Amino acid sequence: MMLVYYSYIGLSVLHRRRQESVLLSATRRSGAIAVVTGGANGIGRAVAVTLAREGARVVVADVDHAGARETVAMIEEGGFPARAASLDVTNEASIAQFYLDVIAEEGRCDVLVNNAGWGEVRAFIDSDRALWDRIMAINLMGLISVTHAFLPNMVALGSGRIVNVSSDAGRVGSSGETVLAGAKGGVIAFTKSIARETARYGISCNCVSPGPTDTRAFREIPQHLQDALIRSIPLRRIGSPDDVANAVSFFASSRSSYITGQVLSVSGGLTMSD
Ligand SMILES: NC(=O)c1ccc[n+]([C@@H]2O[C@H](COP(=O)([O-])OP(=O)(O)OC[C@H]3O[C@@H](n4cnc5c(N)ncnc54)[C@H](O)[C@@H]3O)[C@@H](O)[C@H]2O)c1
Repeated sequence: MMLVYYSYIGLSVLHRRRQESVLLSATRRSGAIAVVTGGANGIGRAVAVTLAREGARVVVADVDHAGARETVAMIEEGGFPARAASLDVTNEASIAQFYLDVIAEEGRCDVLVNNAGWGEVRAFIDSDRALWDRIMAINLMGLISVTHAFLPNMVALGSGRIVNVSSDAGRVGSSGETVLAGAKGGVIAFTKSIARETARYGISCNCVSPGPTDTRAFREIPQHLQDALIRSIPLRRIGSPDDVANAVSFFASSRSSYITGQVLSVSGGLTMSD
């Protein structure tokens, strides 16, 4: 009986060790090259820092070059390698040059996080074509163009992880963000279709869909509205950029190797519909 008991403990320890080693190989992307667009601030910065901590060499790409360099400094302070790069996702020449630079400097791209985004809260009836064009150019067309630039490299490698940062506005709608919701809904449909087209090449494409998250845009909302919003969140707090980064990290790692074309809401339970 005692022997059976000890061998049970031995087996369970062995099992736990196996689980740990699977987890380590999943979280340590040693040598993996990760590109994070919009990595100069907020969620993109948290994603860049998280992926770097987990072993990826991160290229922090943004129109805000000073912010991108700050993110890189934060990563380097932790003893990890990273590089800042200028990228305007609305400009085809900038995307082409950025892609060439990444391939020249890093040789490949294993993980592409399409996070760059922008919006302005305004009733649709008071908005105009210039605002719609800007929102669509940054949030949808930019993401499509960057993906188009990097996809052939991933196909040639026979592997790759694309993680698109959408928004719960694109899943359930959001007053004052009508066109942004359309762009982010487009990101979700685009993600699912790219996932279908590229699965055969070993590439996954998934969406992280943040709810209200504590970045500079949220802090611009009047305090009483912030408080009201927090009261309506089942987990009773606003999301942090790290909450979103953890979900991105999951899709970027081998822990999600059998998952593609999916949308994960990081919203404290604020939205629960499919
Ligand atoms: N914060 C939220 O509550 C929230 C909610 C849902 C979705 N999101 C999404 O998360 C992503 C990150 O948002 P955030 O809150 O961290 O915003 P943020 O403004 O703090 O960061 C966005 C980053 O994108 C960069 N960017 C903007 N236009 C660009 C362009 N043309 N080319 C390259 N980079 C550009 C900005 O310079 C900035 O660094 C966005 O896609 C946003 O739509 C945010």
